[in-house]
Amino acid sequence: MKVTVVGAGAVGASCAEYIAIKNFASEVVLVDIKENFAEGKAMDLMQTASLNGFDTKIVGSTNDYSKTAGSDVAVITSGIPRKPGMTREELIGINAGIVKTVSENLIKHSPNVILIIVSNPMDTMTYLTHKITGLPKNRIIGMGGALDSARFKYRLSEALGCPASDVEGMVIGGHSDKGMVPLTRLASRNSVRASEFLSEQRLAQVAADTKVGGATLTGMLGTSAWYAPGAAVSSLVQAIACDQQKMFPCSALLEGEYGLSDLTIGVPVILGKNGIERIVEIDLDENEKGLLAESAAGVKATNNLLSDMDLF
Ligand code: 2OP
Repeated sequence: MKVTVVGAGAVGASCAEYIAIKNFASEVVLVDIKENFAEGKAMDLMQTASLNGFDTKIVGSTNDYSKTAGSDVAVITSGIPRKPGMTREELIGINAGIVKTVSENLIKHSPNVILIIVSNPMDTMTYLTHKITGLPKNRIIGMGGALDSARFKYRLSEALGCPASDVEGMVIGGHSDKGMVPLTRLASRNSVRASEFLSEQRLAQVAADTKVGGATLTGMLGTSAWYAPGAAVSSLVQAIACDQQKMFPCSALLEGEYGLSDLTIGVPVILGKNGIERIVEIDLDENEKGLLAESAAGVKATNNLLSDMDLF
């Protein structure tokens, strides 16, 4: 199993590290445009192999995509991260061109690759990748909901005073501070609805904290977070690489599901060796349907900015 991670910044390097430690991939190629940066990160990570007990071979490449040839899965994290006070959507002007170039280079060397998009604004970058590459829709996956759901579970476990491993929770909708839809109605602690333990007000606060989870960390760190994003995307790679048939909320191209079309947005999908094996349509109540529709309108508004950028 060969995996490429484009962007050897904090998110990309964390993703490569988690993939290596999980030891399911034979090779991880880390690509960056900065001279020797990816090579240095790869060498540093390889020097943890005897300490962390993995056999994965991690190599670096300065913008030479020939080293990525034959990749089964490729993760696109390249582009600029947001600064405090910025929205993810404000990154579109720079990141759209980068995602276009990177996805074209990846497919040239790995025509059967499954792409996972992390670069922000992620839902729009995922949509752009569909427009540019024309790959089958099951082979383009946007990573946002897995991260947002992990933050939701963190906030739920904090409110419940229990380990995150006791908690289930999913966030659907756009990966944006306003567009996320944490499904508080369905959240649970060991199969018991969270609403049995937490008041409506407390659950609303959990949802609110989840929606700004990324912005909160950007304010604290001065840049976007990397550990949880890296871990989230490594879980998607593992589900594909190991054909786990696991369900995650991912940004997927909708063609009528949830009453939505011609956009990519976070919905539950089953991930396996084919990438998105299928989209799962869960029963949403009227409030949730309304929130998802609002979120979709926000994603489409950002997608519309692409039309002025002459990218496809
Ligand atoms: C986040 O929410 C980088 O969008 C990513 O941290």
